[in-house]
Amino acid sequence: MKKYLLALFCLMGMLTATAGEPLAIGVSMPSKVLPRWTHDGENLKAALEKDGFKVRLLFGLNNNVSNQVNDVENMIDAGCRVLVIAPIDGLAFTEVLRKAEEHGIPVIAYDRMIMNSAAVAYYASFDSTQVGAMQAQFIKEKLDLDNAAGPFNLEIFTGDAGDPNVKLLFDGAMSVLKPYLDAGKLRILSEQREREQCYTKGWLSEAAQARMEGLISSVGYGQVKWRSEKLDAVLCQNDTTANGVTDALLAGGYPAENFPLITGQDCDTLSVVNMRHGLQAMSVFKDTRALAAQVALAVKALVAGEAPVSTTTYHNGKKAVPAQWCDAVAVTPDNIDAALVKSGYYQPADVAGDAKK
Ligand code: BGC
Repeated sequence: MKKYLLALFCLMGMLTATAGEPLAIGVSMPSKVLPRWTHDGENLKAALEKDGFKVRLLFGLNNNVSNQVNDVENMIDAGCRVLVIAPIDGLAFTEVLRKAEEHGIPVIAYDRMIMNSAAVAYYASFDSTQVGAMQAQFIKEKLDLDNAAGPFNLEIFTGDAGDPNVKLLFDGAMSVLKPYLDAGKLRILSEQREREQCYTKGWLSEAAQARMEGLISSVGYGQVKWRSEKLDAVLCQNDTTANGVTDALLAGGYPAENFPLITGQDCDTLSVVNMRHGLQAMSVFKDTRALAAQVALAVKALVAGEAPVSTTTYHNGKKAVPAQWCDAVAVTPDNIDAALVKSGYYQPADVAGDAKK
């Protein structure tokens, strides 16, 4: 049913386009479960509608890859003029986007790169390698790794295996932390040091929580006196993984005064509230309004047959895709208001109140 409605919608868009009516743009976001994508989708839809486009906005169901591929195929069949895709799995679109290429439909990779496809005309994102380095730099400075005696205990939580940003974030973080790990100043007592050992399926809090609970009992973090290890820092690649780790530590009775430095990304409201209560130490703000504005400009340019503004390129295995990064900002309890409230991204009430637990 959804398929036919979508086809009808885009067909109507095409037909009416010839009579001067709006063109249809297909927007496919990965999930509604993780808060940021709802903001991304809504901001982008509003920006495109303001520019006079009709927008078909769809979210992946439960991080289901084939469902998202189907959505995209339907958008192509229905004649959407430009596709904007934030893929659940960066490797899963090669085949379906051959069809986009045949139909001359340009594709914009949104936040996450779409690998191995010549149909990708543009990539708008944040520099994920830099975001990973920001998270690690925060840990390095807070623990004063250059001067303090240590050793300090760290655990790592990476994101979903299919997300191309995970490797970028990890490599960025390791560019900062590797020397300290090699020198033994930082230790990973679980011995799970490789990216693949630290994945969090679907970036879900529940998955991160389950893995952290396992580490609490296998390593003995903050547990009984005679077998207790202090956990100094947890490098979490985003806020949903951070929330899962926080919940596991709280549920395990980890002493609040000894709470580890937990990093994150996205400045989800729950994480910002947790930061105010000492339950998360930092996050990275990626202004989805700026990304939406950037992408709306790119859609307009592509529809006009012009090249969108780009300051860099990013190779997706098939071609060097013109790319543009928006600015990312490290947020700690000290600059929550300056970064998030003064800019109007959140209302004061959004990020006030009690921590979840
Ligand atoms: C995005 C992050 C986000 C994560 C989970 C990544 O690709 O860059 O901002 O937290 O996906 O949705």
